[in-house]
Parts: sequence; C-alpha cells; structure tokens
Amino acid sequence: VKDADGTYLVGCGTAAYACLAGTYIFSKVARRHVNWAIGSEFGYHLDFLTNKSLVIALSQSGETIDLLEAVRKAKAKGARLAALVNVLGSSLYREADYTMIIGAGPEKGVASTKAFTGKLAHLVLLAYALHGNVKEGQAVLTQAAKSCKAVLKEANITKIQKLAKKLKDTRHMYVIGRGLSYPAALEIALKIKEISYIHAEGLAAGELKHGPLALVEKGTPCIALLPNDETYGANLAGAMEMKARGGYVIGISHKNHEVFDVWLPVA
Ligand code: F6R
Repeated sequence: VKDADGTYLVGCGTAAYACLAGTYIFSKVARRHVNWAIGSEFGYHLDFLTNKSLVIALSQSGETIDLLEAVRKAKAKGARLAALVNVLGSSLYREADYTMIIGAGPEKGVASTKAFTGKLAHLVLLAYALHGNVKEGQAVLTQAAKSCKAVLKEANITKIQKLAKKLKDTRHMYVIGRGLSYPAALEIALKIKEISYIHAEGLAAGELKHGPLALVEKGTPCIALLPNDETYGANLAGAMEMKARGGYVIGISHKNHEVFDVWLPVA
C-alpha cells in the first residue's frame, strides 16, 4: 500500500460495505486515502489504473463473478492485485499477487457475517500496521471482541427478541449512521433485508433531510447508531428528526437518551 500509486478496495454486497468502512479506517488510523468501489461497477471506472495501482479485492468465497471480472480488467491494465479472502484456493486467491486469508472458518449461512467482521479486523490491523503501530491495532480489536461478548449477554438477547417480535410485521425500516457507522448502517439494512424480508434502507444520517425523511411516518422503525465518537451529536440530531416525524427510534449507543423508544447498549 505504501508503494502503490493509488489503492482501491473492491467487493460486492457485504464485502463492498467492508471496503467502504476501510476508507474511513485508513483515513482515521493511517491518514491515508484509499478508494473503494462496488465489484460490478469497478469495471466501468478503472481506465486510470496503471502498473503502479494496487487493487485489494475483498471476498468471502473468492468466487463472486462480478468481482472476478472487475479484477481481471484491473490486472489487464497492469494493476497489482491483493486479495483478502476467506476461501483458500478459490479463484480470487489463485489470481491474486498477494493474499491474506480472513480465517473466519466456513460460512454456513446465506448471509455473510463473520467474514464481514473478519474483513474489518484485517483492515483495522492493516491500517495500524501502515501507521507503524500494529500493537495498538491489536488492543483495539481485543477491546472490540469484549464489546461483542457483552452484546451476547442473556438480558440483552431477551430484549432483542422482544424488539424483533414488535418489528416483525413492519414493512419499511431505516438505519442511520455517520462516519464509520454509515457503512455499518448499510450493512445492517442489508442483513435485515436478507434475513427478515423487510425493506430496510441504510443512510448517512446527514442525507435524511435531502429526501428520505419524507417517508418516515408514525411508527416507522428507525435504528440510530450513536457510538461514543465524533458523530454522536450530529447523529442524535438525525434520530430527533426521525422522532419528530413519529418514527420509532431504536438507539444503539453507549448511553441511553430520551429520544430512544428502545435502547440497545454497546460498550
Ligand atoms: C450478504 C452477502 C452478500 C455477499 C456478496 C459477496 O450477507 O452474503 O452480499 O457479501 O455476494 O460475496 P463474497 O464475499 O463471497 O464475494
């Protein structure tokens, strides 16, 4: 990445959202600009690639055809190809110049879950390594794993099950986030669509006022991601806009707030 003249993270679906998250992580941690693209679109805007470009393809299976076609085009332009892939020996693994195995074990369900987490973990470590501080990256990931464990506590699971019962007949949902919570919002919405068959839209909270807010009505569930970071205040304003239109606000946050109808705590 240090030697490359332009780095491009590319993936499809969940992997694309991991790529988008990577742009925030590389900017924040390594002060480095990386680009991202959706696999099926990358082929239409890669004319500027040269033999100094680096393409990092993210994939659980390593067999997603939209991604393979795009990276083959990139290679034809002379770009170097790195793969962050879960399946050893897959097409992507074999065609890449550099490989990193995600190591998430076999994906058994339709929805990509642990591979997503694994991709983020690798991108975090890569960004810290680029910044010369991989130990700090390890500490960040260890803390993240502890936070995940806390989410799995019995009382929390019961609360989430109760919420699921309330939401099961809903037709539309919104998920809002800013900063790194924006790709998280897109990923949450994708998982709700795939697993619950409910229409869900992930949004950058700042975009609400540019159109989507018009569709929020009394009782529309809105998941607001409010982590303990620089996005908290602005995203809280987004949750309030949702609430003002009658939305049912589910806050995922380190602290409760009166705007939340339901609070799901995270460390
Ligand atoms: C979502 C999901 C898909 C995949 C996408 C890419 O839960 O499973 O969006 O992420 O089809 O697949 P891979 O990562 O195998 O290239």
